[in-house]
Amino acid sequence: MLPRRRRARVEDTSNFSSEVHFPGVAIYLAEPRMGRSRRAFLTRLARSKGFHVLDAYSSAVTHVVMEQTSAEEAICWQERRAALAPGCARPALLDISWFTESMAAGQPVPVESRHCLEEAVPRKRLPSPVRMPPYACQRPTPLTHHNTSLWKALEVLAEAAGFEGKEGCLLAFCRAASVLKALPCQVTALSQLQGLPHFGEHSRRVVQELLDHGMCEEVERVRLSERYQSMKLFTQIFGVGVRTADRWYREGLRTLDDVRGQVQRLTEQQKAGLQHHWDLSMPVQRPDAEALQQVVETAVVQALPGATVTLAGGFRRGKLQGHDVDLLITHPQEGQEVGLLLRVICSLKQQGLVLYQQHQLSRSRDPTHLTQRSHTMDTFERSFCIFRLPRPPGAAWKAVRVDLVVAPISQFPFALLGWTGSKHFERELRQFSRKERGLWLNSHGLFDPKQKTLFRAAAEEDIFRHLGLAYLPPEQRNA
Ligand code: UTP
Ligand code: MN
Repeated sequence: MLPRRRRARVEDTSNFSSEVHFPGVAIYLAEPRMGRSRRAFLTRLARSKGFHVLDAYSSAVTHVVMEQTSAEEAICWQERRAALAPGCARPALLDISWFTESMAAGQPVPVESRHCLEEAVPRKRLPSPVRMPPYACQRPTPLTHHNTSLWKALEVLAEAAGFEGKEGCLLAFCRAASVLKALPCQVTALSQLQGLPHFGEHSRRVVQELLDHGMCEEVERVRLSERYQSMKLFTQIFGVGVRTADRWYREGLRTLDDVRGQVQRLTEQQKAGLQHHWDLSMPVQRPDAEALQQVVETAVVQALPGATVTLAGGFRRGKLQGHDVDLLITHPQEGQEVGLLLRVICSLKQQGLVLYQQHQLSRSRDPTHLTQRSHTMDTFERSFCIFRLPRPPGAAWKAVRVDLVVAPISQFPFALLGWTGSKHFERELRQFSRKERGLWLNSHGLFDPKQKTLFRAAAEEDIFRHLGLAYLPPEQRNA
């Protein structure tokens, strides 16, 4: 398949064309209280700033914006639309304040609860029974959902279980949290969880406490614990995993200064991570990710005409912020990509853009061998980098984590699928393949161990089809 075009051109009904800068955001301005002329004005304004505004409501809409509309009216409005398009993911219902703030910022601002119309009133009960297939890859999961506080609580417990190496526990909480993200409504009573998969006793207890008291003692205890805080701090350092963080904790280290005091024991990657820790702990904004993608693309195309650079990871799923920038490089002619990455890094270094980089050679070029590996780490040629984000003259530069990954075109759809995430979505997709289909999936390919055959794919859609799954666009893989 062709890598997704970086910027789509859209035609506006008023003979005015503009570029879409925020591909994960598709706005629909709902007219009732807004009036036709104001709607037309706001549409032109948003398009001139690179926002994608749809004239008609469709399943592509991610943000519905309303003016002077009560929460009840908004929900009724949405329910009428949902009846027209059953099964469609529900977009966020937002007050005009989100729109005006985004226009002022020149980019979509993160959706907060104060922007959300539907959070202003107790939600209706979930239509029962909610049909929820067990694997996250079998259901759409949008970026914004209706159960943020319940979801966050379970995420903390999942994260804490990960810090203790309790894989089973981590998975159980991740699965329950992911179910909450996929629900079409807010959960207001425990009974609404009836019949939903992956809600074990522990997760139910947490939800019950949150519904009854607005907080959960266990979650608060974990969140405030020295162990959780130190492990979180340490694992956020570039180059530090759970095992290293745990060792440091057991040795009595608690703060970044404690770690800096042990500088002789740190890897080069960790040293770079600490050196730029302040910048790296700030989220990367989408416009910055897109700017970096372009800088890399320019260098890539110069080094090898025809080669492409695709923004993967959370940004491809529509996120407005991320912890890093994941870029996939390929060339339509198999083999042409060999040796490209070193030339690209060299050129970026010459431009003074590289603060740190660690090159990892492709460890094998045989995909049949690669798909038989059980673990999830892929072996693409790759560079773990810290880039100096170019900024307008006079503005301070900022360090940004960037992963550059090179995939031969024959493996590209698998690499794109694997690097788009979310992490939980990928885990579920691989497990679904193995347990339900007897096929082994990873970022290199899809392998049938009985037939000893490798499945070829030209696009992500082919992979979903081969697994017997309905295609989910990246925006619906936020499991
Ligand atoms: P990230 O960790 O970058 O997550 O991995 P993200 O979804 O983009 O979120 P933020 O915003 O940066 O925090 C992106 C995808 O790439 C895969 C992960 O499994 C995830 O699906 N990945 C990451 C790999 O396959 N291999 C790696 O070594 C790292
Ligand atoms: Mn990422």
